[in-house]
Amino acid sequence: MTNIITTPIFYANGAPHLGHAYSGYLADVFKRFHSLTSDNPCCLITGTDEHGQKILEAAECSQVGIQQFVDDKAQTFKALWPELAVQVDVFVRTSEEQHLKLIQTIWHKLLEKGDVYLGYYQGLYCLGCEQYYTAYELEDNCCPIHKAPVENKSEETYLFRLDAYRQQLIEHYLNSSDFITPNYYCQVILDYLNQGPLEDLSVSRVNIPWGIKVPNHQEHTIYVWIDALFSYITAIQKAGFDLGVLAQTTHIIGKDILKFHAIYWPALLLAADLPLPKKLIVHGWWTINGQKIAKSNPKTLISPKDLVDKLTCDGLRYALFRQKHVARDGNIVINELIESINADLANNFANLVKRNHTIVLKYFAGNIDAKVISQRALADESKLTIQCCEQAINEIFNYYKRFDFHNVSLLLKDTLDHCNRFFHQRAPWEISKGKDNISVQETCLVISNLLRLVATAAYPLVPTLARQVLQELGEDIVTCQWPSVCDIKSITINKALSHFKRLEKEH
Ligand code: MSP
Repeated sequence: MTNIITTPIFYANGAPHLGHAYSGYLADVFKRFHSLTSDNPCCLITGTDEHGQKILEAAECSQVGIQQFVDDKAQTFKALWPELAVQVDVFVRTSEEQHLKLIQTIWHKLLEKGDVYLGYYQGLYCLGCEQYYTAYELEDNCCPIHKAPVENKSEETYLFRLDAYRQQLIEHYLNSSDFITPNYYCQVILDYLNQGPLEDLSVSRVNIPWGIKVPNHQEHTIYVWIDALFSYITAIQKAGFDLGVLAQTTHIIGKDILKFHAIYWPALLLAADLPLPKKLIVHGWWTINGQKIAKSNPKTLISPKDLVDKLTCDGLRYALFRQKHVARDGNIVINELIESINADLANNFANLVKRNHTIVLKYFAGNIDAKVISQRALADESKLTIQCCEQAINEIFNYYKRFDFHNVSLLLKDTLDHCNRFFHQRAPWEISKGKDNISVQETCLVISNLLRLVATAAYPLVPTLARQVLQELGEDIVTCQWPSVCDIKSITINKALSHFKRLEKEH
């Protein structure tokens, strides 16, 4: 069955920033890993969240009509993904007709079941988050995320009986303690659910002209988060899948939107008689000079496209995963990113490829027959290096499966360190000074075959570099499978190109 991986849908009120790009990278790395390890396809869903007061206010400031405004923003996000080498399968927009129809259908269903009813709500509202807070969740009377004052709102509203699903949610979290990665969040959610009855969730707003109207009650607009969450389903429908694939769906989310995905979304799905997703992957925040990158803080806004121009497409995605653990927060310092890109991709990886391939071309006309190693037993250091790399590749596989792309990058680096040490120790370039020809062939054969392994395992993180290295080794990533062992095969190499140039540091 198809696997689905989603990013959140991004608010269409500004340009994409690095935090958004990171969600896309997480989804794309997993999708590419999946393509190496499974015969089932993996469908990547992303899109834009286009309704609500916040978007309307942004459009008013820009003096463009609202539809034109969201069309432009959606286009900016759509255009971003190919620049980042994120392979999107479905791009969903909440202002689409198909989505409107789905929301109306769901609304009718929840209303008929009695899970949604007309009532009254009073609370402290943060426009930035589009959510109500309780007084104890605030910091100095301000929203804990936006640090801005909240608004005391009281209005007629439709309410969703959230508490009706509390027990089922508790059971879900007790039975699937790995539903959220990192799994300590499951305990956080369980603690929250166990505190006592959950307040009913306000699911409509009055006086919001831009959004999906409550059917037969036009003064009310459906709460943007309900609208947004169900976009995952619209996207699944757009791709032509049965809704059963929800159970194969992994949602990538930032830690700020955990409650929506870990409590509201499963409760709404239960209410709509739909399957629960497979997993939530929660990531931390990127900061600049310690401040969270956010549209509301222009000083922090780095354009992902500018960063790609500076660091290359592979360089940026690699360095972000190399820099911090997925679940933690991390600070962006461009020169630190450049250092790890130069050390790991330019020196450790691309340079080793070039040196090895140059020798193979120069002294063996690009060909080494694997029979060379049957003539004489493999040297101990060759055996040991192969063994270490195979073991590392198996560990890398498990890290990918757990979305631990930081450890993937560390272990890839270690593996390449190992290969480099072996290469240096065996000094195959000394063939020019009369070094034993068979021993040089062995070194280059072992390294070429290990590079095939490493390049395949690195492909999800650095797709362009990995593809080029594999091409030089006569392999096509489309037909490559995850390598569990390193068979020493004969090699044919046609070129010895420089695949990755060192980057200049910033002054
Ligand atoms: N529209 C909602 C999501 C609806 S999903 C049904 C939303 N949009 S957002 O544009 O504000 O944020 C989208 C994602 O970007 C969130 O997962 C959020 O955590 C992530 N990031 C926003 N700023 C970020 C950083 N500074 N660092 C990392 N990711 C962060 O929320």
